Amino acid sequence: MLSDDLLFSNILIGSSDEALGRALRPVLQNAGYTVQVARTGSALLEAVTVSPPRLLLVDTGLPDMDVLTVIRHVKTQRKQNFFPIIALAEPGVLDPATLINAGADELLNKPVSNTALLVRVRSMLRLKAVTEELQDLNATLEEKVIERTEALDKAHAALRHTEKLGALGRLAASVAHEINNPLTGISTYLYLLKQQLPSDARVQANIEVIERQVAAIAHLTKKLQRFSKPAQEQRRPVAISRVAEDVLALVRKNLEQHKIEVTYTCAPDIPPLLASADQLGEVLLNLLLNARDAMPAGGQLCLQITEDAQTVYITVRDTGEGMSPEVQEHIFEPFYTTKGEQGTGLGLAISYRIIQEHGGDISVASAPGAGTTFTIRLPLNAAHTVGEGAETHVYQLENP
Ligand SMILES: Nc1ncnc2c1ncn2[C@@H]1O[C@H](COP(=O)(O)OP(=O)(O)O)[C@@H](O)[C@H]1O
Ligand SMILES: [Mg+2]
Repeated sequence: MLSDDLLFSNILIGSSDEALGRALRPVLQNAGYTVQVARTGSALLEAVTVSPPRLLLVDTGLPDMDVLTVIRHVKTQRKQNFFPIIALAEPGVLDPATLINAGADELLNKPVSNTALLVRVRSMLRLKAVTEELQDLNATLEEKVIERTEALDKAHAALRHTEKLGALGRLAASVAHEINNPLTGISTYLYLLKQQLPSDARVQANIEVIERQVAAIAHLTKKLQRFSKPAQEQRRPVAISRVAEDVLALVRKNLEQHKIEVTYTCAPDIPPLLASADQLGEVLLNLLLNARDAMPAGGQLCLQITEDAQTVYITVRDTGEGMSPEVQEHIFEPFYTTKGEQGTGLGLAISYRIIQEHGGDISVASAPGAGTTFTIRLPLNAAHTVGEGAETHVYQLENP
């Protein structure tokens, strides 16, 4: 065991020469250093391991170990926590170059003069200080590089996603356009057919089934077109609480039917957002309906709106089935759905795009069986106030 004061030693002297220790110790102590002496090579190595000194003075004549071995050991140990090594050399006994090559930073010839001792110790301690500064700088630099690389990776991913959305958006728009033309024809002739066919209830019921299917296709193409051109909406100062409350009013009953308990909280006096209320409403609706779909046996849904000086945070949390990391990777891609025929895979892709165009971002935290939380961040633009006639809006509730 090492004594306590050895643990806190500042300068460690490794020497079995008692006279030398007696001579050096008061000189260093008078200069304000704390001094400890290890009398063997193994005691010295132990001291260095347990509590690295700020500086090591090592005598070339240690009883149990060769000094070069000692220096080499110390050199590998001080990698984490650098301290200088000064070798106290007997002239003519060891080649100074051998000591330096082994890892000593400086030599002092015996007998050691007080002045030489203090000068070397001070210059070596300065070396330590500079090394520490460099190490700190290096660490901050590494952190900065990691930080910037992560930011760059994120930006690249967002860019790739946006490009993909753009390409898919154009494709979607042209597909929607191609479908719309014949669809208009079908609708028109269906209308005529309905007039021409007998008013027999069975025939009319069959026609109505076709009408509903045609309406479903028309709805889908509209959705595809909105996905490809979501930026057309006008931006006005919008009270986010009002958007949320309107959407909640729309779906509350439907959620209750699905045995979903809704909690809603909104921080008071959130400044208005410069936004499209319709689009933000559509995003919230998508998130709420997805949450509903994720809780087929019921559960809890929590919609929360908070703010800090620059940002509004909207979180939608559910206690549903959650998602694996693999699913999470794709959810913002258009047409990605795990709902088979029931899903279009457009809700989150549209939402992502809308939020992005409002200068915000949307993220997800989820795990299978542990529910899902979507978080939207939107920048606040405090310069705008909500006027008297704040926007009113209409949403459409799908697959109720
Ligand atoms: N709250 C949620 N819980 C679990 N999975 C979800 C949730 N929201 C979205 N998802 C997953 O993301 C997919 C894509 O969602 P979305 O783009 O809205 O399309 P859709 O609802 O038509 O499938 C869903 O099919 C589902 O797998
Ligand atoms: Mg959806």
